[in-house]
Amino acid sequence: MCGIVGALAQRNVTGILLEGLRRLEYRGYDSAGVCLSGSNGQLQLRKSQGKVADLEAKLSSDSAEGYVGIAHTRWATHGVPSDENAHPHQSGHIALVHNGIIENHQELRTELEGKGYRFESDTDTEVVVHLIHSLSHKGRSLVDSVTEATRILEGAYALAVVSQDEPDVLACARLGSPLVLGVGIEENFIASDPMALSQVTDRFIFLEEGDVAEVRRNGISVRDHKGEEVSRPVHKLTGGHEATDKGRYRHFMQKEIFEQPKVVAATLAGRIAERSVLTQALGARAQEILPKVEQVQIVACGTSYHAGMVARYWLEDWAGIPCSVEVASELRYRKKVVRPGTLFVSISQSGETADTLAALRQGKDLGYLASMTICNVPNSSLVRESELSLMTEAGPEIGVASTKAFTTQLVALQLFCIALAKINGLSAEREAELVSALHQLPQLMEMFTGLDSVVKHTSEAFAEKNHALFLGRGVEFPIALEGALKLKEISYIHAEAYPAGELKHGPLALVDSDMPVIVVAPNDELLEKLKSNLQEVRARGGQLFVFASPRAGFASEEGVTVVEVPDSPESLAPILYTVPLQLLSYHVALLKGTDVDQPRNLAKSVTVE
Ligand code: G6P
Repeated sequence: MCGIVGALAQRNVTGILLEGLRRLEYRGYDSAGVCLSGSNGQLQLRKSQGKVADLEAKLSSDSAEGYVGIAHTRWATHGVPSDENAHPHQSGHIALVHNGIIENHQELRTELEGKGYRFESDTDTEVVVHLIHSLSHKGRSLVDSVTEATRILEGAYALAVVSQDEPDVLACARLGSPLVLGVGIEENFIASDPMALSQVTDRFIFLEEGDVAEVRRNGISVRDHKGEEVSRPVHKLTGGHEATDKGRYRHFMQKEIFEQPKVVAATLAGRIAERSVLTQALGARAQEILPKVEQVQIVACGTSYHAGMVARYWLEDWAGIPCSVEVASELRYRKKVVRPGTLFVSISQSGETADTLAALRQGKDLGYLASMTICNVPNSSLVRESELSLMTEAGPEIGVASTKAFTTQLVALQLFCIALAKINGLSAEREAELVSALHQLPQLMEMFTGLDSVVKHTSEAFAEKNHALFLGRGVEFPIALEGALKLKEISYIHAEAYPAGELKHGPLALVDSDMPVIVVAPNDELLEKLKSNLQEVRARGGQLFVFASPRAGFASEEGVTVVEVPDSPESLAPILYTVPLQLLSYHVALLKGTDVDQPRNLAKSVTVE
């Protein structure tokens, strides 16, 4: 989704801005642009539909330079991807880039047109630049004009603004979309994600909701939503570097699939003893809050929502605690009844998903016991605004299709569920059993990634397919959903997932010899029921691809391909069976020749509604 980078230095910042944009490419975008201000203060805009490389080519052909600059990758919301709609947008002496959505753009546009402003794009953003321009006058600083504008704008924004009249200032503001300031020596930066700046600084100031900042080479001043000068802490962040390098892998997604043994181990580190979960490792407040939990409401989007669905089985089975799981875009617009003692749990790899964040904020007035987030990005909005946070230690995930972020979410959720179950009567013996399984997880994960070549071979059967059906039962149903999501996201094959028992209530009508049916079949208590469902598929000529443990008793035969996976404890099955499904979609995407890491129309961090 849209990305912002800005810099103010005593050197040409073009390279810094382009490198920043490249680091944000993984989020998904369709055009890019930059505004540079050189020694004469003139604003030079260059924009290009397509990739950052296209913008770079444009810039190198006319060697534009500047000591101050703002840059942007755009993911179209208002107006098609085009050079005109790409940011920055300019109004006279002012230019800006924007992430988010301005909700009152239509009325502002009409008003501004009435004042004589002419619009060149279809974007909501252009309204903002004309608005700031209309508010600026001699004697009013750029940052004051921006502040005035924020009082009129409705919706979500992260803004970075430059002015020809104040060539030594970058003004910025945030509400509902993330923005950080990068602190350098005699140079300062801004970005929508610290990763965009990890080549120039490791010190960051995270702007808070409603903040407006004035950034100069030698200083930064921040005002809060009340207009009062505030001092925001500087955080030192490290470790963003290796994430932006594919190493020996062809794609980030492939690298991230193979990193899973390492990152699940990191998520477990320090949180389990030999036979128990260390509840205190979930944070001091967890010990105070968890005993009061009587019910759990999980909220998430996309892949993270599937993680939440898995957790529901664990919570109800191990802790005996009722749990509801809902996608954030639905929950936030529904009338809710919140029972006393309900813990609000959000799950998010980015920590910035607009719908999830809105659901959390709305939840604050609804009487939840407390809020907790399972998240992969420290200092993200969800982490900062939740009372408890349990970090997944997946490291930055670059592939748009989530892989290691999902499996580490499952690990963190399993720790949380066991911690809650302990308080609600889980026996020490059962806890020891679950924890001993978790100790085996990194090694088992390694064995499951070892299925790569057999899954690659299996993927050939999908190269010509346009549809696929995924089946699972019980806790494997969300894993079937996740398998289908991965396949559609990166190979563009239409894929659906069903609980196998529902087959006969509809999807069976679609099954013929052209329909591959992928089955997640660990050796669990629902195995025999699953086997009967599969007979229903075979009887209609459907092609089965069964991921099963040797003990499940499946054999390959005409119309049935069994991918035998290592035997594993039942409690780990959802985490482990995810891996061959990730590999399957990866290899099918390779055969289809799609853009694996940046699939069309999708974004990594969805900061708009
Ligand atoms: C986007 C990403 C998905 C992710 C979803 C939710 O659609 O492409 O991979 O699952 O957002 O994001 P979150 O950061 O909240 O997990």
